[in-house]
Amino acid sequence: MSCTIKKRQSVLRNLFCFAVVSLIIMLTVGCERKAEAKQTLVVATEATFPPYEFYRGNEIVGIDMDILREIARRNNLHFQIEDMSFDSLITAVQTGKVDLVASGLTVSPDRARQVAFTRSYANARQVVIVPENSPITGREDLRHYRLGVQHGSTGDMYVSEHIGEAERFTNGALAVAAMNAGKLDAVVLDNAPAENHVAGNKGLKILPEPLVEEEYAMAVSKSRPELLEMLNKSLAELEADGTLARITEAYMKDNKPENTAEAHGAWARLKENFHTNFIKNDRWTYLVKGFCVTIEISAAAAVMGILLGFLIGVIRSTADQTGKLRFLNALCRLYLTVVRGTPVVVQLLIIYFVIFGSVDISKVLVAIVAFGLNSAAYVAEIVRSGIMSVDPGQMEAGRSLGLGYGTTMRNVILPQAFKNVLPALGNEFIVLLKETSICGYIALQDLTKGGDIIRSQTYDAFLPLLAVALVYLSLVVLLSHLLKKLEIRLKKNER
Ligand code: ARG
Repeated sequence: MSCTIKKRQSVLRNLFCFAVVSLIIMLTVGCERKAEAKQTLVVATEATFPPYEFYRGNEIVGIDMDILREIARRNNLHFQIEDMSFDSLITAVQTGKVDLVASGLTVSPDRARQVAFTRSYANARQVVIVPENSPITGREDLRHYRLGVQHGSTGDMYVSEHIGEAERFTNGALAVAAMNAGKLDAVVLDNAPAENHVAGNKGLKILPEPLVEEEYAMAVSKSRPELLEMLNKSLAELEADGTLARITEAYMKDNKPENTAEAHGAWARLKENFHTNFIKNDRWTYLVKGFCVTIEISAAAAVMGILLGFLIGVIRSTADQTGKLRFLNALCRLYLTVVRGTPVVVQLLIIYFVIFGSVDISKVLVAIVAFGLNSAAYVAEIVRSGIMSVDPGQMEAGRSLGLGYGTTMRNVILPQAFKNVLPALGNEFIVLLKETSICGYIALQDLTKGGDIIRSQTYDAFLPLLAVALVYLSLVVLLSHLLKKLEIRLKKNER
């Protein structure tokens, strides 16, 4: 028996060392990435809004980006773009996560209460896109049909106030894709991206009468008057010397997205779609980049979850068994209640915007901490159940051999418990891996977000989603296989 325990212990010890070392490496990588990005103007945008901001290859380009580049050049600054969900943009400036928003953002009194707007640099309109053969002819018809909008946009607000309920999508491109799939009858969107979508999709048109006129401006925090002044001055100069008009014109005429499959026959269409979605413009690189981010976050969070989870699990069981560690136990229970009682996406947003709100910290690190803390709560309960599943006689035997509580726990109970809970722990990793797919909420380009970017460019929901699903599935299959092997190895050691 002592030989078995020693072997198991050494497996555990190796795993533990591996875990600690990888966590340290991953955290350092996360930190370094941020360090490079210092002393720049950080700009938030939502980059599925052509011609104002959109991906070309792996780069975000568009009217807003060229304006920023020009402002940065004239003021001797660097700028760095954060692509995040549209409804997070205002929060991001308010909490100081970014310096400004440049995102085809419409000036509105509601928003002006939260942030300071620069002078406006473009006029826009909310328009209605419908299929060419649609019975909808004007605003009056709209209330009887299924409408799509971008969540949090002024189009969304207009529809809610004047027309009725709409389906809210994370971006306009997805709403258009839903209309193409027959799930919507009309999409309300800003005129420039609307024209772009109509050019890129067969069989769509824009209704002649716009719903409302708007103006675009950049937004900064109200506590940054000096930044506001600099932007206003630069925008005025760009307007006066014709740069603004030149940038806008270049994009308005030059930016027509490619049409998706024109080929005939299912196989030919599939081939062409495959080409458009993955090969063209190296779009597959979104998935590869996203894959690496997903792996990095999941692995580091799993390690953190295990370390913290084991600690909490042991504290909880010790308290249950010996009646000691009352205070720590109460703390742990509070932690478990809060973490298990709230959705992980809410935790991620709180950690990003509130806890690390004013701290300049890498988003990968934020995600690792958020998912690690979340996972720890579940691991803790798994570990506790593992410890409880070990026959109490084992503890008594250890103690009667003269070993202390801690030593018996470490050398006798935990190795057995670990083996018992391995399947449940494996399950937790699988859940964790898939849960990281919400990273896009804090503008992290993980695997899911990589697929989203492709979808927003090609208007094809099927292939990008299928590819993303296949990658997750393969990862989970691989992970299950590795865990199975570990299980077998631990079992062998038993003999
Ligand atoms: N102009 C609209 C608004 O401010 C929509 C802007 C959407 N911009 C974007 N980059 N997705 O609400």
